Order: sequence, then structure tokens, then C-alpha cells
Amino acid sequence: MRQTLVMGNWKLNGSKSMVAELINALKAPATDTPSVAVAVCPPVLFLGQAQALLTDSNIALGAQDADIHAQGAFTGEHSPAMYSEFGVHYVLVGHSERRTLHGESDAMVAAKFAAVQQAGLVPVLCIGETLEQFEEGETRAVVERQLHEVIAHSGIDALANAVIAYEPVWAIGTGKTATPEIAQGVHAAIRAFLAEQNADVAAGVQILYGGSVKGASAAGLFAMDDIDGALVGGAALQADEFAAIIRAGA
Ligand code: PGA
Repeated sequence: MRQTLVMGNWKLNGSKSMVAELINALKAPATDTPSVAVAVCPPVLFLGQAQALLTDSNIALGAQDADIHAQGAFTGEHSPAMYSEFGVHYVLVGHSERRTLHGESDAMVAAKFAAVQQAGLVPVLCIGETLEQFEEGETRAVVERQLHEVIAHSGIDALANAVIAYEPVWAIGTGKTATPEIAQGVHAAIRAFLAEQNADVAAGVQILYGGSVKGASAAGLFAMDDIDGALVGGAALQADEFAAIIRAGA
């Protein structure tokens, strides 16, 4: 039985006061719904503050990206090993904004996935097609290619200690959520693709949906067999909206 996981990706948003307000407001909804796993991914600068605020809560901490190196002459980067010191459990890898705005290739994403796991953290592998690819009917080919690169690098068993987030690029920050039926179709295809290589890994891995998820749309998505939670951007910055998504997973 896969646990529902609701994860907030704050992207480049926040301030010290906002971090305190938001995390404090999320503690009660997270405690009231123990069947739902909850995580937040604030900007790196706020991880220490978030770690302190999350003591005695059941909300996990995540980071939005990681370098592939543990340390060294890599100006501006942050390593998975450093995240461990701040109580980070999850690390997003391959978010579409990293792939498009920072030119991250499938190979780089696969290397990041491996580096995160080697540090003992759980990678959240973000995959998904662009609007053009969606309209051309290439969705499955795209997500399979993105998955293949990680499996070729780390092996299928590595997916047993990871989370997948299917995020159609055309639905991120656009207000256009894929319908539950469209999302379910892709999630089922992802699981079937993994099952060709290891049925147990395929059955166990949590596959989150991401892309304009709101309190009002979450329940319909979570009702689908292969949708195991949500990776939430914009709505994760509003305590009431994120709390509604958490409750929809209970
Ligand atoms: P959104 O972002 O919910 O604002 O569409 C989701 C994401 O980028 O993870």
C-alpha cells in the first residue's frame, strides 16, 4: 500500500517571516492527517530555519536541487551531504525549470539522482513532457526516455528508494491541470514501464502528480489508482490551499 505524499516546492519564494508563518500553519493539518506524508522544499537559505521549526512535527524537509559533488571548487552549489546536516530527507532532481532554465540534460539529472541516493537521501525524480510534445502524442516516449536514463545509470532497484513526480510542463504554473484521467493514464504507463523491469519496484514506488494542483482539484487526482500524491508549487505558498491538498489525501 503506497502512502499519499504531498510535497510543496516553494521554488524561489520566501522570507524568514514567511517561512515561519507557513510552517507553523501547516503543523496542525499535517498532524491531523497522519495517513498523509507531508514535505516542504524551501529555498536552500531557509533550510536551517525550517529544520528548527519542523522539530517535533511530522513534516519532512526537502531541497529543490543538488550538485553531483560532495564538496570542492563548485561555486554557488550545494551538495546532498550538506543537506543531510540540515535534516533534509527529499531532494528534487530534474524539475522542468532546472531542465529548461539551467540546461540540465537527462544525463545530468541521472547523475544528480545517483548523488542524492549515495548521500542517503531520497531523490524525487521530476519528469514530464512539454506542450508541443503533448500535442504530438509523445508523452509516453518522453517520460520513458527520462526514466530510462536514470535506470541505465543507477539500475531499476534504485527506484525502490525514490519518488517519481510526473509534471507535464504545460501544467506547471499555468493553471492548466491535467485531468485526473489524463494524469492517471500517464502514471499507469510509467508504472507499466517500470514493471517490465521489476514488478515489485513498480508496485511500490510513489508517483506524484504536479502541475497547478489546488485544494479543489486534489481529491479527484488522488482518487486515481496510480496517483500517490502531489508535488505542489504555487498552492504550496498559501497555507489554507496547501492544507486543503493535504486533507484531500486523507
Ligand atoms: P505549480 O508548480 O503547482 O505552481 O504548477 C508545480 C511544480 O513546479 O512542481
